[in-house]
Order: sequence, then C-alpha cells, then structure tokens
Amino acid sequence: MYTQNELKAQVAQAAVEFILPRLQQDSLLGVGTGSTVDLFIDAIAEHRHLFRGAVSSSERSTTRMLEHGIDVFDLNNITEVGWYVDGADELNADLAMIKGGGGALTREKIVASVAEHFLCIADRSKEVDVLGKFPLPIEIIPMAREAVARQIKALGGQPVLRENFITDNGNQILDVSGLQIHQPEQLEALLNNIPGVVCNGMFALSGATTALIATQEGVLQRERPAV
Ligand code: A5P
Repeated sequence: MYTQNELKAQVAQAAVEFILPRLQQDSLLGVGTGSTVDLFIDAIAEHRHLFRGAVSSSERSTTRMLEHGIDVFDLNNITEVGWYVDGADELNADLAMIKGGGGALTREKIVASVAEHFLCIADRSKEVDVLGKFPLPIEIIPMAREAVARQIKALGGQPVLRENFITDNGNQILDVSGLQIHQPEQLEALLNNIPGVVCNGMFALSGATTALIATQEGVLQRERPAV
C-alpha cells in the first residue's frame, strides 16, 4: 500500500510528464498551492530551462519556485497562461472542486481564470460523490466577518473563523461546514454575491479541465464531462 505522501509524489511526477510536452520555450505555467503542488514544483524544477517561467498563486509557491531557480512573473504583466496546475481538497466527477485548505483560494482562482486549461492533481482520497464534507473556505474582508457569517448560516452552513490565519491578501477565512453541495455552480455564484466575500473556495464555474488522480493501481486521467 502506498501512503498518501507517496501517492502525492506519484501524481506530481505524472503531472510533470503530462505538462512537459505541452510547454514551449516561451510558455508560462500557472502554479497552485499546497503539499501536492510543492512536490510538483520540486519535480518540474529540473526542467525549468524548457519553459519561460511561472505565475504563482501564493507567497509559499513563489518562495519555493525561486529557491529552485524558476522565474516567477507578475500576473499584471502577463496575458496568456496555457496550463494551471493545482491540487484540491475535494473533487467530484464533473471536476468541480473545493479548494483553499491552504488558504490560497483567491489567488488560485485568479491565476486559474487567466489560464486556458486547469490540471488538477490529487490522490484518490480527494474524490467525492457530493462536495461539502471538507469545510468550504471563504476569504472575507475582516470587517464583514459577522455579516457574512449570518448570511452563510441562513444558507444552512456553519462558519468557523480560521484562527491565527491571515491570507496573502491580508484577509480572514471562514471555513464553512454542513453544506451538502448538490449544485456547486449555483452556490459559487451565490457566495460571490455576498458583500464582504472576497472569494469562495468552490471551483465549479472555474472547475478543472483535466484531473490526474493517484490511486493504489496507478495514476488515472479524467476529463471534465462535456455539457
Ligand atoms: C490551497 O489553498 C488549496 O487550494 C490546495 O490546493 C488544496 O488544499 C490541496 O492541498 P494539498 O495538496 O496539500 O492537499
């Protein structure tokens, strides 16, 4: 039996093999955040001469890439990103995801929105039939915390402030449990409309195009079903 860390390393390596043929000398890679992405950064670093550099979704990933000698570009100076590679906290069969367990959801969603394709890398423990067991992270403006929390309770969720945590953008996070998410796209839009919400960790409107899932039997590739 492979451990979860071994599975993460396997999917990170599979992601490198998937991405390299899709990169050119002038390509920029969008890079997510998390323990799986850390392993992806480590694995792709030795191939850094094959592409131009990266756009990062967090200070954590930026630091790691710079340590490896990967050039990191400011998104404001970039118009095109081909592939964005990131992990997930939960993933369903439509490749909608809950993300933000590491707190980087807002920058992740921004970089993903610029990219043409989203490659999700995860181990099988992240696959679910219905999203919502993992508490949904919501980044909020601090002065709106209680107002947002009331609206989330009215939707049936139980928001809990993530203690001792400030995002890269200087905001707070509410982790919302108790939501059975049968209509992820609607929920994503609904949460986006609450004043004080900077971003929510539902990536459904902004779901993955392809997923690589590490299992005990090998790494599986899944594509987002056509609508
Ligand atoms: C970071 O904010 C998250 O969105 C991560 O992508 C997600 O939590 C997956 O992280 P792990 O690879 O550490 O499980």
